[in-house]
Amino acid sequence: MTQVDVLLGLQWGDEGKGKIVDVLSPQYDLIARFQGGPNAGHTLEFDGKKFVLNTIPSGIFNEKTMNLIGNGVVIDPIILKRELDNLKTAGHDPIAKGKLVIARKAHLILPTHQLLDAANEQKMGKDKIGSTLKGIGPTYMDKTGRNGLRVGDTTLPDFKERYNRLVEKHKEILSHYDFEYDLREKEAAFFEAIDFIKNIPHVDSEHFVNGYLKEGKTVLAEGAQGTLLDVDFGSYPFVTSSNTTTAGACTGLGIAPNKVGSVYGIFKAYCTRVGGGPFPTELDDEVGETLRQVGHEFGATTGRARRCGWIDLPALKYAIMLNGVTELIMMKADVLDGFDTIYACTHYEHNGETIDYMPYDIITVKPKPVLKAIAGWKTDVTKVSKVADIPAKLSEYIAFLEKELEVPVKYLSVGPDRVQTLILN
Ligand code: GDP
Ligand code: IMO
Ligand code: MG
Repeated sequence: MTQVDVLLGLQWGDEGKGKIVDVLSPQYDLIARFQGGPNAGHTLEFDGKKFVLNTIPSGIFNEKTMNLIGNGVVIDPIILKRELDNLKTAGHDPIAKGKLVIARKAHLILPTHQLLDAANEQKMGKDKIGSTLKGIGPTYMDKTGRNGLRVGDTTLPDFKERYNRLVEKHKEILSHYDFEYDLREKEAAFFEAIDFIKNIPHVDSEHFVNGYLKEGKTVLAEGAQGTLLDVDFGSYPFVTSSNTTTAGACTGLGIAPNKVGSVYGIFKAYCTRVGGGPFPTELDDEVGETLRQVGHEFGATTGRARRCGWIDLPALKYAIMLNGVTELIMMKADVLDGFDTIYACTHYEHNGETIDYMPYDIITVKPKPVLKAIAGWKTDVTKVSKVADIPAKLSEYIAFLEKELEVPVKYLSVGPDRVQTLILN
């Protein structure tokens, strides 16, 4: 019996999960997304081409790998159809190749879920979450509120009635907001997409994944968002609405905790966040702007500028603890190539104390980062392809992080392309 390896983000998302899942996919028989929805934007680059995936697992470009959209994911049929149409146009048709299945128990994002998301954000004004407006929160609310519609429901004869009942509820809620909308166009696209996704095989993800394990096949669970956006442990309420941590892989696929194998924790050599909420190491100055420009830190899903700052070790330690990380993956080292000095936050000063954890009241009392200066490597690392060619100062930075975090860094990424990836240990 094999186990499920998990790869997930340790920061606020956009760590480079898509790239690394693609790089690792030849080692796996199945790649399975377990939570989130099209709020995710996972970027892959190879052979001079770039793809952004929102719902589809990042193993889709590997010939032999099967891909599963798990029960914990929320699916917008319109976006899923668009993703599949784009892949087909680019010569990668996962349906024709039989490389994609979706969980019957995955919940559907309705056009009215998006309206509710937008109406709510509009009402919150400057206190808004900064959601991706994809309807994620309202869809998970209907899931836990036991109102939701699932992929498997689309084949029932009374699907349309069920849909109408839920939409009536949503319209009733929307009537309490000062919010104008026109549903007709979206609704037509929704039903067209529902017909389309009936062509993708529907499976019970719990049996599907455990069946793979029983046959000794290898499985990698692909996370979306990041640990600090987890609904329980993130900077609530500035979080997403799912469990982005390893535990989410268990509930989002239907695997028991003792079936979890390696846990790959992925992080940037610095830190970013998109949307509202606390960010202790944020650099609201020209250094932050340099990170944004050099790192092309603009959202893959919404195009919004990402907030940038130095690496935050208390936050990373917290994420490692929550996830049981066994191996680290460091991304975007090349973005720091030009800096004379880089900084790492080792502690926070908070309410007159020096602490090394994320405090509960991080929303109301901004912790001040205690920064350690580290000499930069001042070398272009984008073409480094051998471990021996890694600049000494970059190796020192990695060794420092390994000592602090007490987990080995197994992979180092030095550019967006598949080939710009080094195995360290
Ligand atoms: P994900 O959501 O975790 O999959 O990450 P995103 O795709 O949203 O954001 C990561 C961005 O960084 C994408 O534009 C990637 O192409 C890019 N990227 C990934 N790894 C590297 C790297 O090592 N160096 C640079 N410069 N860019 C990278
Ligand atoms: P990937 O998988 C970065 C952020 C939003 C917002 C908050 C809630 O590409 O790393 P939501 O739409 O989920 O209700 O928004 O979470 N957010 C992300 N930030 N990367 C993501 O996904 C994100 N998905 C959601 O910006 O602050
Ligand atoms: Mg992303």
